[in-house]
Amino acid sequence: MTIHIGAKKGDIAETVLLPGDPYRAKWAAETFLTDPKLVNEVRGMLGYTGMWKGNRVTIHGSGMGMPSLSIYANELIKDYGAQTLIRIGSAGGMQDKVKVRDLVLAMTSTTLSTPSRGIFKEVNFAPSADWSLLDAAARAATKRSAPFHVGGIYSSDVFYDERPDLNEQMTRHGILAVEMEAAELYTLAARYGRRALAVLTISDHLLTGEALPAEDREKSFGDMVEIALEAAFA
Ligand code: ADE
Repeated sequence: MTIHIGAKKGDIAETVLLPGDPYRAKWAAETFLTDPKLVNEVRGMLGYTGMWKGNRVTIHGSGMGMPSLSIYANELIKDYGAQTLIRIGSAGGMQDKVKVRDLVLAMTSTTLSTPSRGIFKEVNFAPSADWSLLDAAARAATKRSAPFHVGGIYSSDVFYDERPDLNEQMTRHGILAVEMEAAELYTLAARYGRRALAVLTISDHLLTGEALPAEDREKSFGDMVEIALEAAFA
């Protein structure tokens, strides 16, 4: 047990999928894993461990934003020995070519700051994905003909942004999408020598104002979960 995770030591698998929403963790575990067992429910942050094609997997909520993800990722890595951590979540499109429902595999993540900012001070560390996971996820997406993009994303600290000029600069510099967690996950994975990737579904679009209708979410998010699982065990 840790401060935020009630699981026993062996309850967490070496491979962990991290949706922001704990209820999405429940849905994904019940939909894609065999014999899913609830291993954490402290503060309602649900985590399940089960099997996928003979491989042990944990699907655990991260909460929204980098401070929340940082708590769970730190404990999963340092106390439970997680080796492969894949964020599965939603993001806002920032380029015309990136459509609602498309997948984005985040090669790098740009930020204003992360909870790790205090370490780097004046240095702009470049959080980046694990290549083996990124490559495997791109292959898995290609195999299932899921529309996807690979490139840089922006991990923002705010959903309700008061600086539209910043988003404009991100778009101008080719950033594909905005979300709120990946940069800290990549930074922690780099620090502790683990593998990390963010597989994202475009749920809304900053340029067009379009949003994914609720009834379409399940199918789009399902592709994302399966691609993340295939990448983890490729
Ligand atoms: N996650 C999904 N859509 C988002 C947006 N527009 N901004 C930040 N995070 C998001």
